Amino acid sequence: MDVPFSADLTGRTAVVTGASTGIGHAIADLYLRNGATVVGLHRREVTEHAGKYIPVAADLGDPARVRSTAAEVLRDHRVDILVNNAGLNLRHPFEDFPVEDWDRVQQLNVRTVVELTQLFGRPMLGRGGGVIVNLASMLSFTGGFTASAYAASKGAVAQFTKSVANEWAAKGVRVNAIAPGFIDTEMNTALVADETRNRQILERIPAGRWGTAQDVAGAALFLASDAARFIHGTVLPVDGGYLGR
Ligand SMILES: NC(=O)c1ccc[n+]([C@@H]2O[C@H](COP(=O)([O-])OP(=O)(O)OC[C@H]3O[C@@H](n4cnc5c(N)ncnc54)[C@H](O)[C@@H]3O)[C@@H](O)[C@H]2O)c1
Repeated sequence: MDVPFSADLTGRTAVVTGASTGIGHAIADLYLRNGATVVGLHRREVTEHAGKYIPVAADLGDPARVRSTAAEVLRDHRVDILVNNAGLNLRHPFEDFPVEDWDRVQQLNVRTVVELTQLFGRPMLGRGGGVIVNLASMLSFTGGFTASAYAASKGAVAQFTKSVANEWAAKGVRVNAIAPGFIDTEMNTALVADETRNRQILERIPAGRWGTAQDVAGAALFLASDAARFIHGTVLPVDGGYLGR
C-alpha cells in the first residue's frame, strides 16, 4: 500500500535502526523516496534499498557496539533525524519469565534507545535542530498478555519520549513517538496465522484490517517533516482506531 503523503527531506540525513525489515524498512524506504540520505543500522548487512542508502551492521543489543557504531556514523555524517525503531518482544507467562530475557528486552528497547538518543541528540542540540522519532506501542498504554517485559519497555519509551521532549523542545530538537497498533510484520506472523486470534484482533480494530508497515511510515515521515514543527512529546497511535475502542 503506497503512502499518499510527501515531504521534502532533501539534504537531510536520517539514522534508522532495524532498517532491514518491517516498519524500519518501510520508514527508510519512504525517507529515501522523499530525498533523505538514510543510514540504516541493523544486525546483518543488507543493501536492499534504492537511493542514498548506507547500511551499517551492528548488534544494538551490545552497549559497546551501540557506542562505537554511533561514533562511526557521526564521524562521517551530520545526522538530522534519528528513528529508534529496532525492538524485540520475548513472550513468557510472567511467573516463568527468565530474567535474562527480561534484560535482553530492556537492553534493546530501552537502554539502546536512551543511549542513541543521547549520542545523536547532543550534536543536534549543538546545531539547535533535529528530530527524534521513537517506536512505542499499544503496550505503552495497555498491559497485553504474556508480554510483560515488552509492555514495561514500551511504557518506558513513551515516558522517556515526553521527558526528553520537555528538555529539548526549546533547544530546537523535537522528540516524539509513534505507537503502532496491530501491524502485519514478522513480529506478528504467529498472530496473523492463528485463525481464532486473528479474528478476535480484527473484531477489535474499528478500521477492520491489520495495519501495514507503510501506514506507520507515513506517520514517521510526517513527524520528521517541518509540517510537524510544533509537535513535541506526543505518542501518536497509528492503530486503525484500536485504542479508542
Ligand atoms: N508490528 C507491530 O504490530 C508493532 C506494534 C507496536 C510496536 N512495534 C514496534 O515497531 C518496531 C519495529 O517492529 P516491526 O514490527 O517492524 O518488527 P520486526 O521484527 O520486523 O523489526 C524489528 C527490527 O529490529 C531489529 N533488531 C532486533 N534486535 C536487534 C539487535 N540486537 N540489533 C540490531 N537490530 C535489531 C531487527 O533486525 C528488525 O529489523 C519495534 O520497536 C516494535 O516494538 C511493532
